[in-house]
Amino acid sequence: MARSKSSKAWLHRHVTDPYVQRAQAEGYRARSAYKLLQLNQRDRFLKPGMRVVDLGAAPGGWSQVASKAVGPRGQVLALDVLEMAPVPGVRFIQGDFGEHSVLQTLVEALGGEAADLVLSDMAPNLSGIAISDQARSVALAELALDFAREHLKPGGTLLVKMFQGEGFQEFVVALRQSFAKVAARKPEASRKDSSEVYLLGTGKR
Ligand SMILES: C[S@@+](CC[C@H](N)C(=O)[O-])C[C@H]1O[C@@H](n2cnc3c(N)ncnc32)[C@H](O)[C@@H]1O
Repeated sequence: MARSKSSKAWLHRHVTDPYVQRAQAEGYRARSAYKLLQLNQRDRFLKPGMRVVDLGAAPGGWSQVASKAVGPRGQVLALDVLEMAPVPGVRFIQGDFGEHSVLQTLVEALGGEAADLVLSDMAPNLSGIAISDQARSVALAELALDFAREHLKPGGTLLVKMFQGEGFQEFVVALRQSFAKVAARKPEASRKDSSEVYLLGTGKR
């Protein structure tokens, strides 16, 4: 079957992307692993022994990075609505994070302990309708913030992906209420033409 112009362009960009090539060579499941590596290189939030929650984890690039960083004394709990092949040292929960029963399963997996670090790379399936994609991105970020408010240790860290646009500034204000410091980051591996930004909240109140 003939490929459309846009799928040809996507394929070309994918195969020529240096991070895709590096991920293949270095054993990462997704180029997104380099976003977390670069973010952590700058802000040093991943440490051995940490209990980490990885929301929107599939196919598992961030989980691979987090699991290596926390080591055998740490714990990584990963969650996604999609399936994810096992990552050594990572417990995976499949389900929609917006569903109460899925949230409960994650809370139970924490075994009554609070997390040291919550990561959320959750992103909606893009419909191409900017206003609705933006609203869904904000809603996912809010779910991650609600979770962090309840289940992150005082002093803990939240890293959350969000698209810039409607609701972004309001979300930053909400983050500032719960964290001593909030910074916006755009790692080099994040595509320039994507409006995604990572917000890092440190020093949970
Ligand atoms: C950009 S990908 C994550 C990539 C991942 N960090 C990695 O390095 O492999 C975004 C993920 O968010 C997940 N997601 C979106 N909405 C979700 C929801 N409501 N509950 C759980 N996962 C969700 C998607 O299924 C998708 O796998």
